[in-house]
Formats: sequence, C-alpha cells, structure tokens
Amino acid sequence: MALILGIESSCDETAVAIIDGSAGSLEARIVAQRIASQDAEHAPYGGVVPEIAARAHAEVIAPMVGAVLADAGLTLEDMDAIAATAGPGLIGGVMVGLVTGKALAMAADKPLIGVNHLEGHALSPRLADPDLAYPYLLLLVSGGHCQILEVRGLGDYRRLATTIDDALGEAFDKTAKILGLGYPGGPAVERLAREGDPRAVPLPRPLVGSGEPHFSFAGLKSAVMRAKDSGLHADADIAASFQQAAIDCVIDRTRLALESVGEVQAESVTALVVAGGVAANAALRGALESLAAGFGLRLVAPPGRLCTDNAAMIGWAGAERFALGYTDPLDLPARPRWPLDANAAPVRGAGVKA
Ligand code: KG4
Ligand code: ZN
Repeated sequence: MALILGIESSCDETAVAIIDGSAGSLEARIVAQRIASQDAEHAPYGGVVPEIAARAHAEVIAPMVGAVLADAGLTLEDMDAIAATAGPGLIGGVMVGLVTGKALAMAADKPLIGVNHLEGHALSPRLADPDLAYPYLLLLVSGGHCQILEVRGLGDYRRLATTIDDALGEAFDKTAKILGLGYPGGPAVERLAREGDPRAVPLPRPLVGSGEPHFSFAGLKSAVMRAKDSGLHADADIAASFQQAAIDCVIDRTRLALESVGEVQAESVTALVVAGGVAANAALRGALESLAAGFGLRLVAPPGRLCTDNAAMIGWAGAERFALGYTDPLDLPARPRWPLDANAAPVRGAGVKA
C-alpha cells in the first residue's frame, strides 16, 4: 500500500482524497474523496472571484481532511505522503491548500509532494485506466487551459499546441453567460445544445485548416454574441451551433497534432487522451473517439467526475511521484504560473492566464 493524501484548491473546488497508489483498479485506487464546490458563491458574479475562493477554501479545507480520513477509517499516521496542488491557479487558493499540506506533513512527519495541477489533469487518465501506458497524446481542455501535449513520461511533457486567446472551457462559460445560462457554463451549454440544431447558426471555425498548430476561440465567442444580439435565433440553436463549431476546431487541431506526432516519431503514441473539465462533454468525446479510431488509436477519457477539478487526480499524481522517490521541501513555493513544458516557445497572445 502506498497511501497518499491529496489536496486541491487551485480554483473554485476544495477537494481532499486518499489514494492507494498500489491498487490495480480505479475503484480500489480512490479510497475516499470529498469535493466542496463554490459554484453558489461565485454564481452572482458569472465567474470565479479569487478573494471569495481563497476565503471559502480556508473555511472548509481542514474539516474536510478530517472527514476524508474518517470516511476511510484511517489516520494521518497511515499516510505515506501528503500531496498538494502547488500551482498553477489562483494564488490565494493554491496557498491555502499547499500550506495545509505542509502543516499536515510537518505534524505527522510525512514527505510533502507539491503537484502541478495540470499534471494532475494530465495523469488522471492513468488513474482511471491502469492499462494506459506512456507515451500518449493529451488534449487538455479546462477553464484556464487548452493545450495538446505529448505525455512522454512522468514530468516529461512536450507542448504541441496551446490557445492564442481563450481556453475552450472559457468559451463555453462565455457562451453560457451570453445566453443567460449561469456559471459554470459548460454543462448548461451542453444540455441546451441537445435541444438545438447545430447547423442553424453560421459560426466561424477559427484557425481550422491552418498549418499553425494552435487554438483560437475569441472570434467564435464574438460571433455567438452577434448571433444572440441579432434576435434571429433560438438560444438552443445558438448553443448547439457554438458547441459544434468548437468541436470542429478541436478535432481539426487534434488531427494536425496526431499527424505531426506520427511524422516525428517512429514509435508513435499509445492512445489519444482527453482530460480537464471540458472532457466531461459527451459530444466532444464522441467526436474525439471517431478521430482516434481513424488513426488506429483508442480514446481514453476519464469519467466526468475525474475530468473536472478533484483531489483524486492530485493524490494520483502524488502517488506516481512518490513511487519514483520525488518529494519536496517544506519551503516549496506556491506558483500562480507553472507550465508543464517549460521549454515551449511563447505563442502570440497566449500565456495571459495561469
Ligand atoms: O478542469 P476544470 O474543472 O477547472 C479548471 O482547471 O479550469 O474545468 C472547468 C471548465 C469550465 O470552463 C466548465 O464550464 C467546463 O470545464 N466544463 C464543460 C463541461 N463540464 C465542465 N464544458 C463543456 N461541457 C461540459 N459538460
Ligand atoms: Zn483544472
């Protein structure tokens, strides 16, 4: 047994989990987990307010650690290590979780493992699927990130594409705001899209067909706004057409990445993998499945509850690190920005968000 306590607090979910890194199935690996969403606190503002988020994390995190240990019938003494998100994200929230992790590590004399939140997302498919081997091609789509990465091994990431403006989840959230669907917008847009016609509203597909590998969603968002303001279209048709346009962009960009990986590597990737909050979108998963099949690859997508922010993925990344002997000192800094591929070249307009 390698038992890891995982802590996540980088955005608007406070989450704690206990992971058994030596177990062989998803069910056995997640010993216990709890998540407290702050959706209600942020809903009136249509997005996450950093100060409110940090305060809410500080209120619930310590009792949640106690509750998760009690759920598992374990104590801090039983843990092998404490893993906490050390960035990237909203710095106030990251500090609450990281300092909590440090205090627990110090009190129980356990090693600390600082986890990159993006690595948590990137490795979550390996938590869900014990058969998923390195290297794989990862589409990481969340509220703050939209990247394609070649995941070569633990801590070894090559970024092939990123967004030059908005992240995909952000585009869903902004569309939801334009349509008055509230926050978080992704699930609401997906629900409404089921009732609409994806061909009803002509919308642009930014960068589709471009040889440049990156993403862009700002023009799509503006077009959604114009479609709404025109008064010509039903909201469900706008939602469905937006979702289709966004998916068309993702598929085109991911195809380009799959082609480029196939060209540079004799031994190609083992799977196409999607992770991050938007990976919960069923229409996107369906389209990616067809794309992967065309390349003779399987699509690996974690269950929806592991796509959106959670502590199981942080505990799992901690377990992979612990297995290789990677631990961190108690003066580890919290990092608002922390790219997975430090060598990736800057892209025009990108890098605005953490
Ligand atoms: O990974 P995540 O929980 O937090 C970040 O690290 O950003 O991702 C949240 C994002 C939000 O933008 C949310 O609207 C989006 O994921 N999302 C979805 C769906 N579920 C969550 N987008 C589209 N369809 C969904 N079903
Ligand atoms: Zn996330």
